[in-house]
Amino acid sequence: MDKIIIKNMDQINLKQALKVAETLVHKKEESKWFDPEAIETMEKEFPNQRGYVAIVNDNVVGFITYKIKEEGLELSWIGVLEKYHRKGIGKKLVEKLILYAKEKKCKYIDVETVAPHHADENYGRTIAFYKKIGFKERLILEKADKGIWDMVSMRLELKL
Ligand SMILES: CC(C)(COP(=O)(O)OP(=O)(O)OC[C@H]1O[C@@H](n2cnc3c(N)ncnc32)[C@H](O)[C@@H]1OP(=O)(O)O)[C@@H](O)C(=O)NCCC(=O)NCCS
Repeated sequence: MDKIIIKNMDQINLKQALKVAETLVHKKEESKWFDPEAIETMEKEFPNQRGYVAIVNDNVVGFITYKIKEEGLELSWIGVLEKYHRKGIGKKLVEKLILYAKEKKCKYIDVETVAPHHADENYGRTIAFYKKIGFKERLILEKADKGIWDMVSMRLELKL
């Protein structure tokens, strides 16, 4: 695996990050992660959000964005090009966020994703990823996604 460089997201590389997100969109026959509305939301949110991108051989292959909450952070969006999955890139992006959160004396990082009982195989993997990093399921948000799907709020407690 070539060197993975993590950089701050900026107005130029965020466009490449959006291209990564677009590769993870639902297609008709295959189930993937994001739906087209999620991409539209990312297009609106990324320019006003902070985050990091992962770069391999000068190409953006992953991204993470976050929002600042009262005593912690909310991980808003994360994605890695499918051909780079399971190479430690997602973990590196979250580790960078954890470092920042600790510098800012945050107590936790929260994330929302599809609830386990509604998760397909792909979202099952996403939940496995968050759990491996140490996020714990905190509460079920009933019908939080388009009034249909239950979501789960997961929290990574940070020891200062
Ligand atoms: C979730 C995601 C960002 C993980 O990125 P990644 O670079 O593949 O993850 P890593 O390689 O850093 O994985 C770290 C650990 O998480 C766990 N994990 C990751 N992917 C997994 C999978 N498919 N199945 C089971 N465990 C998994 C493993 O324990 C892994 O460590 P290991 O490979 O040493 O066993 C990536 O799968 C992705 O882009 N998913 C689509 C978008 C998405 O789901 N975004 C979140 C929406 S809420």
